[in-house]
Amino acid sequence: MADSMSATPMTGTHGHPSGGEVTKRDFLKLVAGAGAAVGVGAIVWPLVDSMNPAADVLALSSTEVTLTPIEAGQAITVVWRGKPVFVRHRTPKEIKEAEDVKLSALIDPQADSARVKAGHDQWLVVIGICTHLGCVPLGNAPSDPRGEWGGWFCPCHGSQYDTSGRVRHGPAPLNLAVPPYAFETDTKIKIG
Ligand code: FES
Repeated sequence: MADSMSATPMTGTHGHPSGGEVTKRDFLKLVAGAGAAVGVGAIVWPLVDSMNPAADVLALSSTEVTLTPIEAGQAITVVWRGKPVFVRHRTPKEIKEAEDVKLSALIDPQADSARVKAGHDQWLVVIGICTHLGCVPLGNAPSDPRGEWGGWFCPCHGSQYDTSGRVRHGPAPLNLAVPPYAFETDTKIKIG
């Protein structure tokens, strides 16, 4: 592919674009579109790190996630509108810890029940962007630190989140945001 692209002669940068150039641009657009379509909805660790989504990705309004492969205690990252979204399958212990916290102990008081869907409280879905300065917190990979409250740890300035994605230790001021989502079936959600 690189050979055929580099073989296209470039005209001067200030000259009139030739038909060949237009064709090349259209071709590049097609390639970008195809790449984005493959990435959306998959488990995309590298994309999360780069955080530089193509316009095509931003334009897609929803992401479907099949929950079946995510075992209790595990979490994955999916991309929705160019943002990382954490989907976590909580254990009974993690749910109980999240529910038992007094609201007065929280930096950004919010009940766990307000952050999950009734009847599906084993599933926590949050936008994986630290509310301090926007880093992506750690806690989804098995080897990641999850912080003192068992949720996520932001390596940038040390903020910590609990098993409900609520901030428990600053400097982050707010809980991880819950995106709009719905259960399409017991094992599939649609974010957005
Ligand atoms: S960006 Fe997360 S603690 Fe600063």
